[in-house]
Amino acid sequence: TVLGIDSSTQATKALLVDAATGEVLEERRASHPDGTEVDPRAWLAAVDEAAGPLLERAEAVAVGGQQHGMVLLDAHGEVVRDALLWNDTRSAPQAETLIEEMGGAEASVEEIGSLMVASFTASKLRWVRDHEPENAQRAARVLLPHDYVSLHLAEQGTEPFTDRGDASGTGYYSTRTEAWAPELAEKAVGSALELPRLPAAPQEVMARTARGAAIAPGTGDNMGAALGLSLGPGDVSVSIGTSGVCAMVSASRPGDASGAVTGFADATGRFLPMATTINASRILEAARALLGVSHEELSQLALASVPGAHGVTLLPYFDGERTPNRPDARATLTGMSTATTREDVARAYVEGLLCSLADGISALEDRTGTAPARITLIGGAARSQAVQQLAPAIFGREVTIAPEGEYVALGAARQAAWALAGTEEPPAWTITGSRTVDAEATPEVLETYRALKNRTESWG
Ligand code: XUL
Repeated sequence: TVLGIDSSTQATKALLVDAATGEVLEERRASHPDGTEVDPRAWLAAVDEAAGPLLERAEAVAVGGQQHGMVLLDAHGEVVRDALLWNDTRSAPQAETLIEEMGGAEASVEEIGSLMVASFTASKLRWVRDHEPENAQRAARVLLPHDYVSLHLAEQGTEPFTDRGDASGTGYYSTRTEAWAPELAEKAVGSALELPRLPAAPQEVMARTARGAAIAPGTGDNMGAALGLSLGPGDVSVSIGTSGVCAMVSASRPGDASGAVTGFADATGRFLPMATTINASRILEAARALLGVSHEELSQLALASVPGAHGVTLLPYFDGERTPNRPDARATLTGMSTATTREDVARAYVEGLLCSLADGISALEDRTGTAPARITLIGGAARSQAVQQLAPAIFGREVTIAPEGEYVALGAARQAAWALAGTEEPPAWTITGSRTVDAEATPEVLETYRALKNRTESWG
C-alpha cells in the first residue's frame, strides 16, 4: 500500500491506495486556513491529522501540492514569514520587472519555459525584497508548498527536495537545461538561496520516513492530477474548479510569449502546457445566485434553451481574466431581446464557461501543434448536468467525464507506487466509472463568442 497526499489551498486530502491496482482503500481529509498568505505550519498540522493515521500502513508516500507558493526559511530552518500563494497577485509589478531584467517576454519563455507572472515564486521573492528587505536578508532557503510538506514527513536531517514539475512553476528553473537557474532566484531576492534537491529520475526515492517508508519526489497539483488520471501524450484534462485549468501532456517543450499557455514540466519527464482561466465554477455560481435557483435547476434551465441561447452571449470575465489577459475586465452579456427567458440566460452562462475553456484547449492545440487525443473533465463544476451535456457540442469533440475523485492525491499515490516499484514506467492503474459523452457540434456558438471577444478587446 502507498499513500498519496494533496496539500491544496483549502485542505489536505490523503488516500491510502493499493499499489498494484490503484484501488483507494481509505480516504481522510483535514482543512487548514485558506487565503493568499498563510502560515505554512498550518499545512503540517492538517497533514498530521489527515495522513498521520495512514502513514504507518504505507510502504511509500508522495505529496502533491498547490503550485508556486513561496515558503521562506532562515538558516535554522525556521519560517521567515507567511507563505505567499499562487493566488496572491500583489507581485504583478515585480513579474513585469523580472521580465524586463531577463530581456523581455521571449527571453523569459526561452529560459523558464513560461512568461513570468505574479503567481510564480520568483516574483514573490522580488516582492519580499522590495517591501520587506529584512525578511529577504534573513531568508536562506526557498521551498514550494509540496517540498515543505514532504520534508515534514521525512526523517530528521533530510535535505529538502522537490521535482521538476513543481520546480518549473518557480520562475528560477530552466525547462531548457532541465536544472535550477539559481542566479534567477538570487537576482529576485538579492542574495543566494539554497534550493531543494531535484531527482535524477521521476521515480527516484528521495528520502525515508522515520519508519523507513520511501518518499517519492512529489509534484505540483496539476502535474499530480495528470498522473492520477493516467493522461498520455496529447491527452487533455479540463479541471473546472475555482479556476479553470486546461492541461495537455506533451512530449516537447511548448513556448508561448503571449502568456496564454504556461510551459510547465510534468511529473514523468514530459511537459504539461497549461491554459488557466480565473473565472470557472464561479460563473455557474453567479448564474445560480442571479436567477435564484439551485445548481440542479440551473442545469435544467440551461438545457431547456437552444444552442446559442436565442442570441444571448456571455463573455464570462467577471473578476478580470488571465486567459485572455484582461486583468481589469468585467463580464459582458449581449444579444437580449424582450423575449429573452431565464432559460436563455442560464444557457448563455453555461455556454460562456465552456467557450472560455474551448479557447484554452485551442491555445494548447496551437502552441503544441497537437490535436487533443482525449479530453477529460474533472472538478466541482464538471458535475453539472448542463456542463457535461453541452461540453462536447462546444468543444466539437467527445468528452470523458471522470468519476468524482481526488486525482491529485491519487497521482501522488501513483508516483509513490512508481518509486516503490522502481520500474521504467508508472504502474498502469485504471479508473473505473468514467463515461464518455458526445453531442452534435455547434461551432457557431464558439464563433459568436469569439467575435464578441474580439470586438470587446479594448474594453479592458
Ligand atoms: C497553476 C496554478 C493553480 C495552482 C492551484 O498555475 O496557479 O492551478 O496550482 O493550486
